[in-house]
Amino acid sequence: SHEEFSTSIRSTAGHRSKPNTSIPLVGPVSWWGGVQMGPPDPILGVSEAFKKDTNPKKMNLGVGAYRDDMGKPFVLSCVRKAEAIITTKQMDKEYLGIGGLGEFSKSCAQLALGADNEVMKSGRYITVQTISGTGSLRIGANFLARFHGGPRDVYLPKPSWGNHTPIFRDAGMELKAYKYYDPSTCGFDFKGALDDISKIPEHSVIMLHACAHNPTGVDPKPEQWKEISDIVKKRNLLVFFDMAYQGFASGDIDRDAWAVRYFIEQGHNILLSQSFAKNMGLYGERVGGFTVVCNDAEEAKRVESQLKILIRPIYSNPPMNGARIAATILNTPDLRSLWLEEVHGMANRIIKMREQLAAGLIKEGSSKNWQHVIDQIGMFCFTGLKPEQVERLTKEFSVYMTKDGRISMAGVTSGNVGYLAHGIHAVTK
Ligand SMILES: Cc1ncc(COP(=O)(O)O)c(C=O)c1O
Repeated sequence: SHEEFSTSIRSTAGHRSKPNTSIPLVGPVSWWGGVQMGPPDPILGVSEAFKKDTNPKKMNLGVGAYRDDMGKPFVLSCVRKAEAIITTKQMDKEYLGIGGLGEFSKSCAQLALGADNEVMKSGRYITVQTISGTGSLRIGANFLARFHGGPRDVYLPKPSWGNHTPIFRDAGMELKAYKYYDPSTCGFDFKGALDDISKIPEHSVIMLHACAHNPTGVDPKPEQWKEISDIVKKRNLLVFFDMAYQGFASGDIDRDAWAVRYFIEQGHNILLSQSFAKNMGLYGERVGGFTVVCNDAEEAKRVESQLKILIRPIYSNPPMNGARIAATILNTPDLRSLWLEEVHGMANRIIKMREQLAAGLIKEGSSKNWQHVIDQIGMFCFTGLKPEQVERLTKEFSVYMTKDGRISMAGVTSGNVGYLAHGIHAVTK
């Protein structure tokens, strides 16, 4: 009976001579008495604190989600139109395949690599639909842990997106870092990066942010990418590109994919993670892709078979709604051009806010150099504010952001940019 079954489980667990967990059992009723309170997520924790604040002028610049100039979440018109098309089709809700929706994966790869890419034509790649960028990185990390013959080490730029470390660590990889950001210029430490990369042991994995580096907003220029590619090739490193912001850096999806395409042209068989959270505003739909570029189509088939074996026991197959929306946009010419306009519009609004913030700081009378606010790219600005200045900005002005001084420019509007400049000047003068 059910009762017998549960008693037998309980007594087995209770009398285990060698518990297979480090958490001691504290009593018959509390299985989790030994579980300690963990810290809140450094980024999502900021939103929690923001919600509790009653100041009408409060600003949440923690999480990287786009807002319109009224500060409201923004659903793209191309998304609304795609949803309408999907509704009229009255499609079924059967399971997708393990690798997701075919029309989606193909157009996802095409968006990153370009339709004319030799890789697309020869079929020497595999793209699976994933649970947004995070899911893609995690499938990639698991794939590396299972199949990469080189060292366990994954080299991240310093600093990198906060979630990169636990994603790879939880998959059993080891994290290392290479120099990336120069606090003295609030810009790219090109020399430091080249120096560090040239010392990475052969066959290690290197993580590169394809564009709009998070959290710094600092990207290498094309000439610098070329030198990075050369060194990476000399060291024989496996390149993992994280492209979570295609279109968001410059407003142009092809320009933002330049580094990815250049590396492939140079013969790197890259791994690639893509997310449609930001560039289509599909955050909660969780739609993304993971791509492995292979030597030939036959190798790609073998890799595909193993990706399916890897994915099946984790979530069986991905959700369909977001993939249908993204595929409809990418494959319907009218919607695709509308989307390109809208991405451009979002990127431009952010660029405008950068200019207004820098101008506002000068108007407040700041004598500091704020050029990096304008020069940095994408959703985030690494202001250079020290932790104690961040703390004051939050306490005295109800401006919420991560301790590292990163602000999401997407949360800045023409209505609050003046207030933000005033606050930043007050805590930095
Ligand atoms: C660098 C980077 N990679 C990946 C992601 C993944 O986001 P998502 O899982 O929402 O697609 C993000 C989101 O903030 C990011 O900034």
